[in-house]
Amino acid sequence: MTAQLISGTQLAASLRESISQEAARLTALGHQPGLAVVLVGEDPASQVYVRNKVEACKKAGFNSSMHQLAADTTQAELLELVHRLNEDPAVHGILVQLPLPAHLDSHLVIESIASEKDVDGFHVSNAGMLMTGKPQFIPCTPYGVMKMLELTGVNLRGAEAVVIGASNIVGKPQAMLLLQQGATVTLCNSKTRDLKAHCKRADVLVVAVGRPNMITGDMIKPGAVVIDVGINRLDNGKLCGDVDFESAKEVAGWITPVPGGVGPMTITMLLQNTLEAVQRSIE
Ligand code: GUN
Repeated sequence: MTAQLISGTQLAASLRESISQEAARLTALGHQPGLAVVLVGEDPASQVYVRNKVEACKKAGFNSSMHQLAADTTQAELLELVHRLNEDPAVHGILVQLPLPAHLDSHLVIESIASEKDVDGFHVSNAGMLMTGKPQFIPCTPYGVMKMLELTGVNLRGAEAVVIGASNIVGKPQAMLLLQQGATVTLCNSKTRDLKAHCKRADVLVVAVGRPNMITGDMIKPGAVVIDVGINRLDNGKLCGDVDFESAKEVAGWITPVPGGVGPMTITMLLQNTLEAVQRSIE
């Protein structure tokens, strides 16, 4: 192995230590950070994610409430709950777990969250603020990736950064954050021709596609920083990323593992965003 490992587990643990301290300080002032998590339906993966988020909140000393709604919940019922949470001063952050069941309009639900409580950073107002260079909430996964890049010490000014996957949750905000740090950014999508040629140019490669092991060592520039956002479960039950770790680690300069890479960072940045929501609410 030539690449150095970027341990999300370690970085997350050290960040959570300072988050807990700040949470304790705010609690002593009468402002215990509060996060409300809403889950509609019984999607098993979403249940695991949501449980992990609530657990992490509790460990950090936050007040976390879990709102589990039936799969046949109506749009009006869900909007009514979001409205109540918007009005609750003990709730600083609201997260509606996606994807929602097909009969619900995710866009409308996200827009109904008060933008100052949108700790996911998915509201159009927060997406717009990020785009125009004055972010309020940065979506948790790309925010975590930026922290990991900081740890490597890579100079992003003028670097070639390639992001694979153009979702609203990861790829688009990731590209914007890298651009704001002075990188030359290429945002690839499922229609991109000659993906390998783009990857090969990347000093920083962020992969968020959801396809097991699709990026192999021969597609990576020697010494590149490779960030694997994918978490895929194989038929044998094992977890793997979008990057073929075994071949990539022989070429990259830095690489994130799966599990133990970006995953723990995403939840940590959710805690960070909730803290920031409290801090802004008492300014
Ligand atoms: N589903 C997958 N990732 C996320 C996330 O970061 N936030 C929410 N709300 N739902 C998700």
